[in-house]
Amino acid sequence: MTDSRSAPIETAPSWQLCAACGTRLSETDARTICACGGMLDVQHSAPKAPGPELRALFDARRSAGGSGVWRFAEIVLPAAAVSAVSRPEGNTPLVESRAVSDWAGIERLHLKEEGLNPTGSFKDRGMTVGVTQARRIGASAVACASTGNTAASMAAYAALAGIPALVVVPAGQVAVGKLAQSFAYGARTLAVRADFDACLALLRQAALRLGVYLLNSVNPFRIEGQKTIVLETLQQLGWDPPDWIVVPAGNLGNTAAFGKALREAREWGLVERVPRLAAVQAAGAAPFARGFREGFARRHRVTAETVATAIRIGDPASWDRAVTAIGETNGVVIDVTDAEILEAKAVVDRAGIGCEPASAASVAGARSLARDGVIARGQRVVAVLTGHLLKDPEILLRGNTPREIEPTLAALEAALREDVSGR
Ligand code: F0G
Repeated sequence: MTDSRSAPIETAPSWQLCAACGTRLSETDARTICACGGMLDVQHSAPKAPGPELRALFDARRSAGGSGVWRFAEIVLPAAAVSAVSRPEGNTPLVESRAVSDWAGIERLHLKEEGLNPTGSFKDRGMTVGVTQARRIGASAVACASTGNTAASMAAYAALAGIPALVVVPAGQVAVGKLAQSFAYGARTLAVRADFDACLALLRQAALRLGVYLLNSVNPFRIEGQKTIVLETLQQLGWDPPDWIVVPAGNLGNTAAFGKALREAREWGLVERVPRLAAVQAAGAAPFARGFREGFARRHRVTAETVATAIRIGDPASWDRAVTAIGETNGVVIDVTDAEILEAKAVVDRAGIGCEPASAASVAGARSLARDGVIARGQRVVAVLTGHLLKDPEILLRGNTPREIEPTLAALEAALREDVSGR
């Protein structure tokens, strides 16, 4: 692992803790869910030198290059850093765009381009840790249910590690770029005639029977890797936290990971205050937004429908963890319509950055919060673009077929004249 070159990684112990019954499992326990059915959390020993020294350590490793996940090994999975299955991932740009800021009505809007990870989405940050853990425990195969990106990422990292991969997707509901990746990386890919929620329920049932290691974000090691979206963002801002971090929300793994990252960043003295989290759902797949409006009095499940297939999820697995994340950060949860998502995507695309539809929910959500005065004038906002534009090319080609012409100057000029007059 490259990151250990600049500063050695202290291999203090980590362990797993059940959020429901408090049972403590060892770091290498192969279960992905507690015997009581509760979700597991990974916990780490506090660093010997927190605060400024830890920041300096992370900054030194950043200068040395390497993975944007394992750079933060002490807060991710220290004991596994030297044997990580890594591309490397992370180190994604934090950019500003005048056009996107103007559209959103937010002066200081940063876009975190997670689509620039090795397989084109933030999932690689969780998967480098998940597949590393799979290898550590000697898993014979890995599996996930997915709306596409988790599958693409798992397939790639499993191939890197030489572990067979099983992917289960909702039939006819996965963007073509993602499906193509799963095949290309050699995952056994099954399309189930059901939605994502049913796929995940099926796989959770089957994982134990089949003896496969489940790599959905219910797996706590995925969460540890995804925390680094936030840690890297804070680092890029010189450890001066923004006022808001806005993220698209589907199965709520990221919302949960962001909350945990911010809690630990404060506890370990990396920052003194934390940004507020805003989780943004698609209106047709918004059980968590509904829950938020009702003070999270109860859990909701819906039948999901949205153009943003990545977040077409009606029964989010990390509900409880995400409620904690929103509570601890004084966060908010909203939903935006498909029309707003597509408008935001067009603005991000035209700005020369680009993203897939689900990612644009964060920008659409940021605009909505600014318009409603929840994001105040002058506040600094980070919106996470979770996936690459090329993940979902079909949506871009709808009604956008290039006009064919003969290979002559006359034909070219005629076509351009018509295009101009046709405007
Ligand atoms: N954005 C993109 C591009 C995604 O692929 C996903 C989730 C999300 C946002 C939502 O993140 O689930 O942590 O709330 N995709 C999963 C998948 C479900 O299977 O690829 P979340």
